[in-house]
Amino acid sequence: MTHQYLQVNQSGPLSGSVDLFGAKNGALVIMTSLLLTEGVSTLYNVPNSTDVQLMIKLLESLGALITFSVETHVMKVDTRSLHSETICPSVMNKMRASILAMGPLLARFGKAIVANPGGCLIGARPIDYHLKGFKTLGVAIEETTHSIIGTMSVNSNLNNRIIFEYPSVGATENILMAATLLPGQTTIINAALEPEVLDLILVLKKMGAQIETSAPATIIITGVSQLYSIEYEILPDRLEAGALLLAAAMTKGSITLNNARPYDMDIFLLKLQEMGHTIITTPGKQGITFHSTEDPQAVSFKTGPYPGFPTDLQAPMMAVQAMARGSCVVEETVFENRLMHVRELQKMGAHITMINNQTAQIKGVDTLYGAEVIAPDIRASCALVLAGLAAEGKTKIIGLHQWQRAYDGLEKKLIFLGANLEIIQEG
Ligand code: EPZ
Repeated sequence: MTHQYLQVNQSGPLSGSVDLFGAKNGALVIMTSLLLTEGVSTLYNVPNSTDVQLMIKLLESLGALITFSVETHVMKVDTRSLHSETICPSVMNKMRASILAMGPLLARFGKAIVANPGGCLIGARPIDYHLKGFKTLGVAIEETTHSIIGTMSVNSNLNNRIIFEYPSVGATENILMAATLLPGQTTIINAALEPEVLDLILVLKKMGAQIETSAPATIIITGVSQLYSIEYEILPDRLEAGALLLAAAMTKGSITLNNARPYDMDIFLLKLQEMGHTIITTPGKQGITFHSTEDPQAVSFKTGPYPGFPTDLQAPMMAVQAMARGSCVVEETVFENRLMHVRELQKMGAHITMINNQTAQIKGVDTLYGAEVIAPDIRASCALVLAGLAAEGKTKIIGLHQWQRAYDGLEKKLIFLGANLEIIQEG
């Protein structure tokens, strides 16, 4: 049986400029939001990752008609012939983000049947906040061995306050979408306000939803009777931007990301500057130019809900700390098991000590060495690519599917900028 892997070779300084594709985590939820409308919507700058392809399958299984050009990144979604409110278990089991279709199905049809998404390697990832929120909206939830059935009661109370004990991105998005077509007013307290959540709010308002946000982290939705199809460009992916900037840092290069939104990444950019790198931006404008320092200093960081340091950039940032001067501490507070890349980086010569399950101390080294490593999760795959760019010799990264779930041909952009890596077909 043939299989593919990423081979990354030590690379010289990256240079040049590229555009970012749309955010995977924005595209997935915006695709599910189209279930709230009855018409033909068009999305631009949609990334062609395997997660997006899985979401296409999910929406088609509900009756949506979809065309997606992987060349132009334009997707058309026709939701005039939806015929099911059951999310197929085969897709649900492959992609947790399928749960994001539950809110729109409840709003549109008053019913949704989903498989329990289950955990994944980075954590148990329960959906209790989602289900508690739906119950507050008047949804009856029945849990069987394999599925969860939600039924919107006709006389649900007209004013709901939903308080999240943790600002969950998915739960905020699910409740937000369910409330758009619900009579009355729904207030979400301690909502997640990641850029992808704010982009979803823009999409829903463009569809005709009535939504306001207020400090501190409050979203107020006033239900309307109908939402309409839209045209929308997905926001640029701050996680692709982070990966590219860190690749430039790892190879002591200089690059420009033409459409990056610096205001989505303040803390991450601050940490790069604290390392000694130069970040050039224009206030209120898109675009980031990066010049690496010759002598990067290690910086400590702790992940957290936005605007904290993004958990999805924790692994890539740790790889860069592995070759910075001095030592630092990295703390992962969002997921309980998202340091699995430590073991793989250690195989390459990184000096990393686990302080506890969610905290690691890194002591920078001058050299990493190419090795055969395994990508344990989608963002760890990026950490290993970055380490491979700087490591002496060749690094063989098994787990290409992880890389392809998270990014749309990011290896092509890295090669365009001067990286020496390729996808190898073996067997
Ligand atoms: C979204 O996942 C992203 N995925 C994740 O990106 C991202 O890491 C995460 O938000 C945090 O920013 C998509 O948008 C598709 P959460 P989500 O609900 O919504 C716990 C990537 O790499 N929790 O904010 O699942 C949960 O276990 C992916 O692109 C509950 O306990 O994240 C976790 O510890 C990975 N109960 C924490 O909250 C719930 O009901 C944050 O989860 C929901 C969440």
